[in-house]
Amino acid sequence: MQKPAVGKFITVEGTEGVGKSTNIAIIKAALDQHGIDYIATREPGGTPFAEELRALLLANRDEFVDPTAELLAVFAARAQHINTVIKPALAQGQWVLSDRFTDATYAYQGCGRQLGTALIEQLERLVQKNLQPDLTVYLDVDVQVGLERAAQRGELDRFEQEDIAFFERVRAGYHARIESAPARYCVIDAGQSLEAVQGDVKKQLQQFIESQLR
Ligand code: TMP
Repeated sequence: MQKPAVGKFITVEGTEGVGKSTNIAIIKAALDQHGIDYIATREPGGTPFAEELRALLLANRDEFVDPTAELLAVFAARAQHINTVIKPALAQGQWVLSDRFTDATYAYQGCGRQLGTALIEQLERLVQKNLQPDLTVYLDVDVQVGLERAAQRGELDRFEQEDIAFFERVRAGYHARIESAPARYCVIDAGQSLEAVQGDVKKQLQQFIESQLR
């Protein structure tokens, strides 16, 4: 029997309030349109164990959370997610669409929490081995605009409560990642009108899907 082709791994990234959910719906529609078998998942989370770690990470609490403890919890969730969900799906030929992945760790823990990249690189090698996204859709928006949009959604989680300087570092962290390996990223100007953003996402996804199915 012929082994199925390995699926493709797409991630979606951005700071708070960039419109990830709406644009993930556009990406799903593009995958559906091409009849691609895929799973949609998220980080931190994507498995019952990893979702519990997500709840711990996002919960507001009085206790100061040590940035290294936070980083290790993120990678504990990621190890579970990769080994029980992402890799098995890809091996069966399914595509995987994840709302955030390791770029978020470089941006939030590396830059936002100012942990730097060395430890993250080590954990990435340990947990991911050679797994990397094939495409990362990065939604870029002015930090202040994004935070105002996020604030309209109701109660803020532990990350959303950070100050603007934190999110400026996070955004700079994403930009540094993109500069270091531009080929993997599709950068979308999420400050445009909703229709324009969705039009760009749709166009870029069509191009990527067609290049993979050729
Ligand atoms: P969101 O997926 O709803 O945006 O929420 C997830 C939060 O977790 C978001 O504030 C970013 C944060 N996060 C990290 O700090 N590091 C990570 O590696 C990931 C995947 C998310």
